[in-house]
Amino acid sequence: MSEPLRLAERLSDIQPSATVAITQRARELRAEGVDVLSFSMGEPDFDTPAHIREAAKAAIDAGATRYTAARGTLELREAICKVSAERRGGHAHDPAEVVVGVGAKHILFNLALALFDPGDEVIVPAPYWVSYPEQVRMAGATPVVVETHVDEGFLLTPSALEDAVTSKTKALILCSPSNPTGSAYRASDLEAIAAVARKHRFWIIVDEIYAQLVYEGFDQRSILEIAPDLRDRIILVDGVSKTYAMTGWRIGWMLGPKQVAKACDTLQGQETSNAAAVSQAASRAALLGSQAPVEQMRKAFEERRDVMVDGLNAIDGIDCRVPEGAFYAFPSVRGLLGRRAGKLTLDDDLAVAKFFLETARCAVVPGTAFGAPGFMRLSYAAGTETLRAGLSRIAEAVRTLA
Ligand SMILES: Cc1ncc(COP(=O)(O)O)c(C=O)c1O
Repeated sequence: MSEPLRLAERLSDIQPSATVAITQRARELRAEGVDVLSFSMGEPDFDTPAHIREAAKAAIDAGATRYTAARGTLELREAICKVSAERRGGHAHDPAEVVVGVGAKHILFNLALALFDPGDEVIVPAPYWVSYPEQVRMAGATPVVVETHVDEGFLLTPSALEDAVTSKTKALILCSPSNPTGSAYRASDLEAIAAVARKHRFWIIVDEIYAQLVYEGFDQRSILEIAPDLRDRIILVDGVSKTYAMTGWRIGWMLGPKQVAKACDTLQGQETSNAAAVSQAASRAALLGSQAPVEQMRKAFEERRDVMVDGLNAIDGIDCRVPEGAFYAFPSVRGLLGRRAGKLTLDDDLAVAKFFLETARCAVVPGTAFGAPGFMRLSYAAGTETLRAGLSRIAEAVRTLA
């Protein structure tokens, strides 16, 4: 037998998505008949609101079945500009500054290809969303991971940012509210970041896909409103997946300088062309139609957050800060390390996640996947009954530890 043909070198350094892998493992266990509760996936459990589904059905009959402009229909880009200005203190974009892609993940990947060269450094605060460093690497650039701390709300501090900047820094990627921590930057935090950015020259990519999901009246602000003078290097990433329970429709977008939008448009024209026409029509209906379902879902997430955080904090060895937004709890499990389950010693968060899956039959994602060993991500995008059942399984499993 001859040696198998070689894959591209590019892949040797790329990690598969841990969140997708764990969710898949939970699915497999379920298929084997094991009753596993999954807290691993970043996906609302709600259905897409009815008026959006209806608009999509009507759009198919009205002919939304063909190619559109690669960067998305003008109608959708206009709706994005209108709603973005309303949500971001009146700071408006032009449709020529918008590109719609196949989800925010696709948009972020295109931005990496459009902006980063080998040798460039891209600052990524940890805990990070799993795809940021991998996408930077796929573009041949180097992610510079900057640790943040739970006692500072997992926020990048201006001094940590300043220390990370070099002459090679090409961009900073911020996520607020954050996946995986749920932490969100206040206006004063963003002002402090902007003050450092003003002293240097790098792109500021801000993933605001969870911006509509904030709790207890948190004053969610975009860096664009805080530092409009940096508009020519701020790139906002947003989408419908989380806000409107539309993960499967695959629509996300960027708003940023025209030259960046043009570059992403060029890439997309050779890569995927447009995102599905019917999904674009549905997204337009989502943005322009009633926002009442969004508020209902937001309220439900807020209640679930409290159930999840209180339940976790009631377990000996687990310590969870209250997140401001998104739908993730990100507790420390350092208090469990060193404890033993039979022959297995819980040496790290990976072992704890394995123990939770096998003993408590709950799928969670170890913090190591997000660059934060000693922590764990649990999504509370699940019904309260499921949350309570999972929490009591975990509490019970923890009680058996020696
Ligand atoms: C922080 C963050 N950005 C982007 C995405 C991608 O969202 P989508 O590709 O569904 O628009 C996700 C999804 O998990 C996310 O958590």
